[in-house]
Amino acid sequence: MTAEGSEGAPQAARKAHQLTDGARKALGDSRAAINLRWLRTLSGAPVDRILDVLTEVDALVPIEKEMRRRQVAGGRSSYAQICAPFELYALVRLLQPKHIVETGVSSGISSAHFLMALDKNRSGTLHSIDFPTHQRGPVLAADESPVSVPPGLSSGWAIPFRSTRWDLRIGESQVLLPKLVEELPAIDVFLHDDLHTPEHLTFELETIRPKLSPSALVLADNTKWTGDAAPQFANSFHARISRRGTKDLVGFRLPAPRRTKGTPA
Ligand SMILES: C[S@@+](CC[C@H](N)C(=O)[O-])C[C@H]1O[C@@H](n2cnc3c(N)ncnc32)[C@H](O)[C@@H]1O
Repeated sequence: MTAEGSEGAPQAARKAHQLTDGARKALGDSRAAINLRWLRTLSGAPVDRILDVLTEVDALVPIEKEMRRRQVAGGRSSYAQICAPFELYALVRLLQPKHIVETGVSSGISSAHFLMALDKNRSGTLHSIDFPTHQRGPVLAADESPVSVPPGLSSGWAIPFRSTRWDLRIGESQVLLPKLVEELPAIDVFLHDDLHTPEHLTFELETIRPKLSPSALVLADNTKWTGDAAPQFANSFHARISRRGTKDLVGFRLPAPRRTKGTPA
């Protein structure tokens, strides 16, 4: 019997919370509390399998602590970027993508969680594009964006480990994304987290469209600023957008190709 069948959905959600709470506290942001419902919708995986993967998250605590320490040393009281680091980790463990593309790295919270999952999978590559802005002095000034990079550091500056699975490209997504997409055989996971305008999100989604693999996962953060760009793109595949709780991080899966008679399962 599944955890959901034997214990019910609220119990499974509690268990997911327990399994990830140490890492959330180590990272230091209450918004990162796991959303099991969103994870189930996007992964399509059984609850037992998801909880299995979430048992791995506690091993990330030393890395989360160090990322938090670096953020604080860089003058940030909260990491204030992607709100779903543990869902990103779990989705990559569950979906086993070969190619992940993300736009927007900054200190590297999303990148780090993608990479830790790819390293655990022992397969796949994260292709990241970032066009960083730089902080003026050693301490973040009140008028500066927390996504700016502290002096002497570069995109991904809070990530305390190296991974051979990271293909990081520095420059504007308007220039670099079309080139990257041309090089890739397929894109299994895409995360938009850079310039949050409707025009730019539409540009990125239309650029990746030809290479999205069957059942690809598409994620977009800060969609309160990007109007109908994400839902319209999802609609074009007859797919439904799934919002992470009350946050404006959304995702959807491309529909799997229909099996015709005689096609092996
Ligand atoms: C919200 S932050 C990314 C946060 C990151 N995903 C995380 O989880 O830590 C946005 C990043 O996108 C970069 N950016 C903004 N416009 C861009 C563009 N046109 N092309 C590439 N990167 C851009 C910003 O400089 C910043 O580093």
